Amino acid sequence: MRVTLLGSSGLLGQELVRALNGEQLTSLSSKDADLRDPSQVERVIHDSRPDWIVLSAAFTDVDGCEANRDRAFAVNCDGAVHVANAAAAVGSRLMFLSTDYVFDGTKPSPYETADPRHPISVYGESKARAEERLLEILPDVCVVRTSWLFGHGGKCFPATILKLAAVRPEISVVNDQRGSPTFTRDLAWALAQLCSKGARGIVHATNSGNCTWFEFAKEIVAVSGLSTTVKPVTTAEFPRPARRPANSVLSPSSLHAYGIHMPSWQDALRRYLETRP
Ligand SMILES: NC(=O)c1ccc[n+]([C@@H]2O[C@H](COP(=O)([O-])OP(=O)(O)OC[C@H]3O[C@@H](n4cnc5c(N)ncnc54)[C@H](OP(=O)(O)O)[C@@H]3O)[C@@H](O)[C@H]2O)c1
Repeated sequence: MRVTLLGSSGLLGQELVRALNGEQLTSLSSKDADLRDPSQVERVIHDSRPDWIVLSAAFTDVDGCEANRDRAFAVNCDGAVHVANAAAAVGSRLMFLSTDYVFDGTKPSPYETADPRHPISVYGESKARAEERLLEILPDVCVVRTSWLFGHGGKCFPATILKLAAVRPEISVVNDQRGSPTFTRDLAWALAQLCSKGARGIVHATNSGNCTWFEFAKEIVAVSGLSTTVKPVTTAEFPRPARRPANSVLSPSSLHAYGIHMPSWQDALRRYLETRP
């Protein structure tokens, strides 16, 4: 397969480079093509003429997006549209990475792919709008929603908790937001599988199981053998610029339909901790 990866320098992108290394891979970061510039996007897609484009690049700072609505939409929505147009021009398949934050979090059970989008943040809005536009432009686009990424090669929640736990006797973590932590290594493997299986439509891909951020932090501290106390707090006690869904657990049935099963988040966390540089 010829694959062009946009966002190769990101947390997920770095693992995608590894997972796709058996393919004819073109890895690109913002230095090679800025998603906001349609002519740059067109050029790199035209030059590589891939079977698949994997669009992992995005403006992912959820709080930053609240203050920079124009940039959020320019990169995450218009940028994705530029990629979809370039894909249509050369006949490439497109896999678009999206997010659990397209939902408002009020559903008491896991979100299915057909549940209506109702984002409550600018980041979520920019991704939800991109999904809609891409599905119009490319009926066979594959939209993969994932959540709570952690991995090597960048900032992530477990790394932050470990840093804090090393210097503080107690840390406070919100206990009223539930989701599925997802190891970039496991996700990259699942995405490579989805490409090889010719996936289309919306797919939910996360590690299995779910927890709150507090429960996630407790597990990180326990598995690392640290003595720091983790204290549960509410989101209201720790206001942030962007609202987050209370429940953003994604149902795995769309992934299972392709015969792909991801390990539990606890198993993934152990492997992440064991392989930390
Ligand atoms: N992180 C999460 O918890 C999470 C959850 C759900 C979904 N997702 C989605 O999963 C995907 C991967 O996330 P991630 O955490 O790996 O992202 P990340 O670490 O923030 O990496 C973002 C990537 O996008 C590139 N990029 C940013 N602005 C760009 C622009 N204007 N033009 C071209 N490239 C640009 C960056 O390139 P440079 O390094 O060159 O700037 C980098 O390679 C994203 O689509 C994200 O929305 C993430």
